[in-house]
Amino acid sequence: MRRGVFISFEGPDGCGKTTQIAKLARYCRDKGYDTVVSREPGGTPISEKIRSLILDPENTEMDPRTEALLYAASRAQHVAQLIEPALEQGRIVLCDRFIDSSIAYQGFGRGLGDGVRIINEFAVKSVMPDITFFLDIDARIGHERNAREGKADRLELEALDFHRRVGEAFREIAASDARFRRVDASGSIEEVFGRIVTVFEAFMAERG
Ligand code: TYD
Repeated sequence: MRRGVFISFEGPDGCGKTTQIAKLARYCRDKGYDTVVSREPGGTPISEKIRSLILDPENTEMDPRTEALLYAASRAQHVAQLIEPALEQGRIVLCDRFIDSSIAYQGFGRGLGDGVRIINEFAVKSVMPDITFFLDIDARIGHERNAREGKADRLELEALDFHRRVGEAFREIAASDARFRRVDASGSIEEVFGRIVTVFEAFMAERG
């Protein structure tokens, strides 16, 4: 059985990943691809429990290193229990955030540096996305989108400055690795989706 395709979606809060992933999943299924959608932190029962620990607004005492290790732990379980088996079954896996979120948020945003990459490489073994969409949007617009939707978990309440740093980090990481496909995430849902489909089709054609 040919290995499936692993696609992750990254970007600052409010960049519209979740909507775009749902649309791409529908598009893939319509084309007959066996497609699974997942998200991080989360994706398996254990990982979802870790997610609630991390995002709980009451956990104000959480040390940044604890947070980074919890994200990595959640990811390890997600890879072992869901992503790897799905790829072995030849499925398309669309994942809302993956390792690059940890590098951007914990590595750069929280200033934990390269240790974040190291714990995550341990967590994922060598399971990495084939391509990663980076939905690029100005941190302020993303922040405003979320505020409008009334979404504010512990991390979304962080200062705008933190989100700016994270946005810059994503831009830097994306520019340094051919795995990334940067997509302008400003404009209407349909406009952004059109850009994503073009890139997806090019990748599938290249893959053969
Ligand atoms: P997510 O559910 O994707 O929120 P949104 O849909 O608003 O993007 O992610 C929740 C938060 O977790 C988000 O603020 C980003 C953060 N996060 C990290 O800091 N590190 C990570 O490794 C991951 C996966 C997420």
